[in-house]
Amino acid sequence: MVSARTAERGPLKKVVAIYPGSFDPPTNGHLDLIERGSKIFDELIVAILQNPEKHPLFSLDERREMLEALTSHVRNVRVDTFGGLTVDYAAKVKARAVLRGIRAISDYEYELQMALMNRKLQPDLETVFMIPAGKYSYLSSRLVREIAHLGGPIKGLVPELVERRLKGKLLDTTKIHHHRRKAGRRA
Ligand code: PNS
Repeated sequence: MVSARTAERGPLKKVVAIYPGSFDPPTNGHLDLIERGSKIFDELIVAILQNPEKHPLFSLDERREMLEALTSHVRNVRVDTFGGLTVDYAAKVKARAVLRGIRAISDYEYELQMALMNRKLQPDLETVFMIPAGKYSYLSSRLVREIAHLGGPIKGLVPELVERRLKGKLLDTTKIHHHRRKAGRRA
């Protein structure tokens, strides 16, 4: 039997989902989730949060450019940036669902809180949780940044493109520090 809700949706209506996050930087775990999400939604929008309070390692444009290159092979995925509330952005792009990844039980509490708060703000928007491949269950952008910063290996944790960009970024930071130290000595 077809429920009233299914009938309301109509068989041909396309389901758009957003995958919001900081992606600083995008990891193999993010890409795994994007590929999985692209198989169940008609359109998936990777939405990078523009958060002026945070000091990201990569600028919004850099993150957008990396994610665009990394998802160019997935036909129904596009990349965008947003500021403000996730529910407002979802309404703007007519998304019916928010995709989030849950790696371990430790993610659950925060994700549940966020999903329920988003539901309170916008009852029609559903949060869909997906589980990334087990080999990425310990992976996070924060740890990748920390390991890269301390000179550890990040191979296999992020796509090669991100690995190269991370190395370049940290080299630039070291150069800036070195320059500042030298300038300080001269002053
Ligand atoms: O990758 P992250 O940092 O875990 O992503 C968190 C994100 C961007 C999904 C969350 O901070 C968010 O939705 N921010 C937008 C502002 C908002 O809607 N806040 C209320 C959330 S209940």
